[in-house]
Amino acid sequence: HLEESIRPYIDLIDTLRSAGIHKDLALPTIIVIGDQSSGKSSVLEALSGVPLPRGSGIVTRCPLELRLKKVEGGVSWKAVLSYNDKKFEFVDSSSLETRVHEAQDELAGRGVAICDDLITLEVMSPGVCDLTLIDLPGIARVPVNGQPQDIGSQIKHIIMKYIKKQETINMVVCPCNTDIATTEALKMAQEVDPDGKRTIAILTKPDLIDKGTEKRILRIVNNEVIPLHKGYIMVKCRGQQQIDDKIPLEDSADMDYLLQEEKATIKNLAVKLSQHLVDHIKKSLPQLNEQIKKKLWDLRNELKECEAGPPQDPRGAKKFLIQTLTEFNKQIQYLSLGELIIKENL
Ligand code: GDP
Ligand code: NA
Ligand code: MG
Repeated sequence: HLEESIRPYIDLIDTLRSAGIHKDLALPTIIVIGDQSSGKSSVLEALSGVPLPRGSGIVTRCPLELRLKKVEGGVSWKAVLSYNDKKFEFVDSSSLETRVHEAQDELAGRGVAICDDLITLEVMSPGVCDLTLIDLPGIARVPVNGQPQDIGSQIKHIIMKYIKKQETINMVVCPCNTDIATTEALKMAQEVDPDGKRTIAILTKPDLIDKGTEKRILRIVNNEVIPLHKGYIMVKCRGQQQIDDKIPLEDSADMDYLLQEEKATIKNLAVKLSQHLVDHIKKSLPQLNEQIKKKLWDLRNELKECEAGPPQDPRGAKKFLIQTLTEFNKQIQYLSLGELIIKENL
């Protein structure tokens, strides 16, 4: 049974991330990237069934980890939003979008700035697939009022940090009404994954395909233009008009676009993504196991140095104390240096 075999793998990685392992080791995950307004948040919204902040301009200002968990029997819908040490529980999704906005304001400041702090949204529902993805701020070309001149490179820096890791699947979102071959996000993905082994492309806005470009789009979807091992998937999400008209998610997403064998449906996308993610986790597990073992071994060795405790004679004890303090001081310096480097890199 497909779903039963998927869940334990995804749970394992979520648990490792909750324990903070991702700060030391890269964990397999799907990273969502694309130019601003390419439809990233709309795709995530459709996958999760939860209204997320989206629209024109810079809307996603912090990385948002979306953990989707399929629940059966009794439990209906539940969501938990967490960041820093804060946790908010929801039994319906009406105030969620506002709360995500507030979380971003708290982390990145009000306005248009971006930051690298992670917001986690866990959605438990019978209607979702087991899947974890991270939404990143979109690539901006021109700074808007109040944004620093280098906002574009700031965003690219955050994106690069995530997508360069071998453990990530990079999901590049490209609207059908733009030239996909010159999409900045696809170029970045190609840079870190020249063979296209861990890149998957999502083609959005199929309802907006320019007249005369249908054939080219079809060739792209069929993997004939920029070949990717994981290929291309097309999905239709809610347009601005449909959002303004309050058309429910379920009425707008599932439509049949272009002459494909497979429908451009969210369900289709969700199932494929789950499978890709689990394949990727399976592939990464032996390596992850090795890395964790090595960390543990290093830590045990460090511990051993302190195990004996201070020597009994006063001179030896004094020497031990000085050594321990010097070592401790070094580590503190190293840590604050690390923080400095992180801040500088942002
Ligand atoms: P993001 O910046 O990449 O997260 O993009 P958003 O998800 O915020 O979407 C940007 C705009 O594109 C919004 O106004 C969406 O309503 C619109 N949009 C997204 N998907 C579709 C689609 O399939 N068709 C149409 N017509 N509009 C879409
Ligand atoms: Na947007
Ligand atoms: Mg967005």
